[in-house]
Amino acid sequence: MDSEKPFLGVRPGNFFRPAWVPLLLLFTVLAILSFQISTKTVFPESLISGSSAGEYGSPGPGTESGGPISCIGFFGAAPKRKVVMSITDFGGVGDGRTSNTETFRRAVRHMQGFGDKGGSQLNVPKGRWLTGSFNLTSNFTLFLEEGADPKEWPIIKPLPSYGRGRERSGGRHISLVHGDGLTNVIITGQNGTIDGQGKMWWDLWWNRTLEHTRGHLVELVNSQNILISNLTFLNSPFWTIHPVYCSNVVIKGMTILAPLNAPNTDGIDPDSSTNVCIEDCYIESGDDLVAVKSGWDQYGITMARPSTNIIVRRVSGTTPTCSGVGIGSEMSGGISNVTVEDLHVWDSAAGVRIKSDKGRGGYIVNISFHNIILERVKIPIRFSRGSNDHPDEGWDPKAVPKVKRVFISNVISINSLKAPVLQGIEDASYEEICLKNVTLLGLSPSTMWKCEFVSGFASEVFPTPCSQLQNMIPSSSCSYL
Ligand SMILES: *[C@@H]1O[C@H](CO)[C@@H](O)[C@H](O)[C@H]1NC(C)=O
Ligand SMILES: *[C@@H]1O[C@H](CO)[C@@H](O)[C@H](O)[C@H]1NC(C)=O
Ligand SMILES: *[C@@H]1O[C@H](CO)[C@@H](O)[C@H](O)[C@H]1NC(C)=O
Ligand SMILES: *[C@@H]1O[C@H](CO)[C@@H](O)[C@H](O)[C@H]1NC(C)=O
Ligand SMILES: *[C@@H]1O[C@H](CO)[C@@H](O)[C@H](O)[C@H]1NC(C)=O
Ligand SMILES: *[C@@H]1O[C@H](CO)[C@@H](O)[C@H](O)[C@H]1NC(C)=O
Ligand SMILES: *[C@@H]1O[C@H](CO)[C@@H](O)[C@H](O)[C@H]1NC(C)=O
Ligand SMILES: *[C@@H]1O[C@H](CO)[C@@H](O)[C@H](O)[C@H]1NC(C)=O
Repeated sequence: MDSEKPFLGVRPGNFFRPAWVPLLLLFTVLAILSFQISTKTVFPESLISGSSAGEYGSPGPGTESGGPISCIGFFGAAPKRKVVMSITDFGGVGDGRTSNTETFRRAVRHMQGFGDKGGSQLNVPKGRWLTGSFNLTSNFTLFLEEGADPKEWPIIKPLPSYGRGRERSGGRHISLVHGDGLTNVIITGQNGTIDGQGKMWWDLWWNRTLEHTRGHLVELVNSQNILISNLTFLNSPFWTIHPVYCSNVVIKGMTILAPLNAPNTDGIDPDSSTNVCIEDCYIESGDDLVAVKSGWDQYGITMARPSTNIIVRRVSGTTPTCSGVGIGSEMSGGISNVTVEDLHVWDSAAGVRIKSDKGRGGYIVNISFHNIILERVKIPIRFSRGSNDHPDEGWDPKAVPKVKRVFISNVISINSLKAPVLQGIEDASYEEICLKNVTLLGLSPSTMWKCEFVSGFASEVFPTPCSQLQNMIPSSSCSYL
């Protein structure tokens, strides 16, 4: 349907008919090369190319498809939106050349007025929509930004749980799509694409000329009731989807792609967020497919905002230098009650990984991984310490994390290079690590498990685990959640 396929091609997926949605963004965004744009306009711009609008307005999420279990319950249905408009109603021109930045901003300003009058929906029809940044708002929300030049991605305040930008001190670039303090946010469509045109940012990172921390493709801060579904996100400058201080977040049916060497292009990073359900996603990128976080060292400890009640289900993909699902390394506000199931990872550095360090404080408790298939993953299960990665001199070496009750079961790993590497932290031994029905095939007979500062249980684990895990499985049989 969509003839514009500059990158990976855009295939309209299936209809999505939300009834409850405040905002439906239905489209394809294809960022164009920013460099060209910057010579022509003061606005940072990107190109949105939309598939033509389908029909909207009936059943909610989880009412169909997706197999027996779904994220249903994580996202509260809202009534049908009263106002549905198209970007063309605001004079938008989807020719791939005309700047629509002001048009998008005007559209959002206009539709904001319906936030408490039944909500609104902005459709972006088929076409190529060049735009710069615009903010989202409640009951209709999106903020798109694409940078021509880093100067055109405004700097915003650092997150309090990080105290500074993650990569550079001080503020950080705003995200391509950004929202703060919102409720009822929906970003969805018929497998339309949002392209973050990250290359410029990766270049800045590679050539060490990045001045401020890169922005995300989508970041929602301090927001509730969020659904991001049925879209393709490409080429994020940095972590792709970053819900931080959020609750009730569903991320479902997403395809997230970035070059396998693109730095820090994590797929989905729930951060200090509660009730997050990630389901049916395919991710390939240059960093963890999913990484659960909760702030960094003394800043995260002070803010004490945990990530809890997180489900990651039916996620698959590859990341050659990083992990399928990572917990940490930023975990200073605490991470608990994470369930990862039906994970399929191939050609990656690690399958499941827990990352922490001295100085982090916080905790990682009640984590379970079930039904994990790993193919050609170098280290199938890895607990690791950081490499002196701290925000500033103010970190407290005595702030050690508490890592307890990690349950890993039903794992099949084929052709791993190494046996599990489970390295806890001195004076903060990881406890009650439980492995059950874990089969690692194709390991060379000389490979040994490497375990330090961990203790726990193992049953039906092949090859035989390290002695630290050879305690008897307790009667609770390791089911913590
Ligand atoms: C969505 O688009 C991506 C990229 O073109 C494609 O890989 C994926 O299979 C599509 N997903 C669906 C459900 O059509
Ligand atoms: C996603 O697309 C599928 C297939 O068309 C549809 O059944 C489902 O309702 C959509 N789900 C969400 C949450 O958008
Ligand atoms: C969003 O819509 C709900 C009703 O669905 C309303 O209660 C709420 O006030 C609206 N929020 C804003 C910020 O307008
Ligand atoms: C968007 O929101 C950010 C803060 O969240 C603000 O700094 C910026 O001015 C807003 N931009 C527009 C165009 O409203
Ligand atoms: C670094 O990369 C950016 C973005 O591609 C480019 O504008 C800049 O000239 C590069 N700087 C150096 C020193 O290579
Ligand atoms: C971990 O699970 C146990 C048992 O269900 C529960 O009592 C405890 O509060 C949980 N811990 C955290 C930090 O969520
Ligand atoms: C984690 O789950 C357990 C068991 O359901 C519950 O007791 C505990 O309160 C949860 N922890 C948090 C922080 O919500
Ligand atoms: C062990 O795990 C494998 C892989 O997930 C699964 O197919 C098998 O049914 C499990 N066996 C038991 C006894 O649970």
